[in-house]
Amino acid sequence: MTQLLVFNLIGAITLSLVVFSVALQRFQQQPKPDASLSFLVIGDWGRKGAYNQSQLAFQVGVIGQQLDIDFVISTGDNFYDSGLTGIDDPAFEESFTKIYTASSLQKQWYSVLGNHDYRGNVEAQLSPVLTNLDKRWLCMRSFIKLRSFSFVDTTPFVDKYFTDPGDHVYDWRDVWPRKRYISNLLKEVGLALQESNAKWKIVVGHHTIRSAGVHGDTEELVKHLLPILEANNIDLFINGHDHCLQHITSLDSGIQFLTSGSGSKAWRGVVMKLYYDGQGFMYVQVTQTEIEVVFYDVFGHVLHKWNTSKQFHSTL
Ligand SMILES: *[C@@H]1O[C@H](CO)[C@@H](O)[C@H](O)[C@H]1NC(C)=O
Ligand SMILES: *[C@@H]1O[C@H](CO)[C@@H](O)[C@H](O)[C@H]1NC(C)=O
Repeated sequence: MTQLLVFNLIGAITLSLVVFSVALQRFQQQPKPDASLSFLVIGDWGRKGAYNQSQLAFQVGVIGQQLDIDFVISTGDNFYDSGLTGIDDPAFEESFTKIYTASSLQKQWYSVLGNHDYRGNVEAQLSPVLTNLDKRWLCMRSFIKLRSFSFVDTTPFVDKYFTDPGDHVYDWRDVWPRKRYISNLLKEVGLALQESNAKWKIVVGHHTIRSAGVHGDTEELVKHLLPILEANNIDLFINGHDHCLQHITSLDSGIQFLTSGSGSKAWRGVVMKLYYDGQGFMYVQVTQTEIEVVFYDVFGHVLHKWNTSKQFHSTL
């Protein structure tokens, strides 16, 4: 973990004392001297290099170097097919440490869990033992970074994993009782967004809210999470899950829905406007007045760019 990153002790103490009203843990980071921050977003990647994961990782490293990134966000489904078996699962090194080797990627990674991660040992992915193996690794269910970023554990929202798990076994330890888990999470996210006076509000989760991909919209999130995001005027919702790159604008709010879920297996056979059905990743730069988003393919070519600005002053 970088020295700039300050682990909020108050958050940790609250976390261990209050079982059912868990204040989200907070992480700080010093912006660049010009008060900007930039990061790459990659999702749905851990396949031991297969499905172009390694080729893409190389380009992620090249672009990370060019654009001088401060950190990396993983939108989940970190390890296929079924998360990690335990803290000693070699997949951690084979799909992460030995893949994202570029010097520009030796920054803090902030990861959420995807549904495939929940099919393995969740506690293992959350374990500090992995951070000892590779100091970049930080995976948590839900947390806050600066005042701008809220990371939300979206898998427990999705009914079908509970009602129709098929052959899959999900690790729901610490999610039960589910209703309470979800209502507390929504409350905490709502509070964090409401309290934040950050200029930009960015929410990150694994599942889609709006998607033209194979999985489509996640109805449970549209119903329960989206109203909170709209009420708090968030700027970006960033997710993975669909194995593509997408940028969808809302007609009802100013929210931009950004999918970066093609860290390895892609090409699901769907091609649409403003939809890239192949491997890639996303770059975001946040400054005092502007957000810039750029999507890249496996060759490092720019696929799509978007930016917006707000003139009034406030900090990140
Ligand atoms: C890897 O990327 C290349 C270039 O986009 C593509 O032609 C190829 O089909 C990809 N391979 C896989 C397994 O996705
Ligand atoms: C987007 O970026 C371009 C180039 O930096 C700039 O000219 C333009 O004003 C920006 N648009 C918005 C809406 O910020």
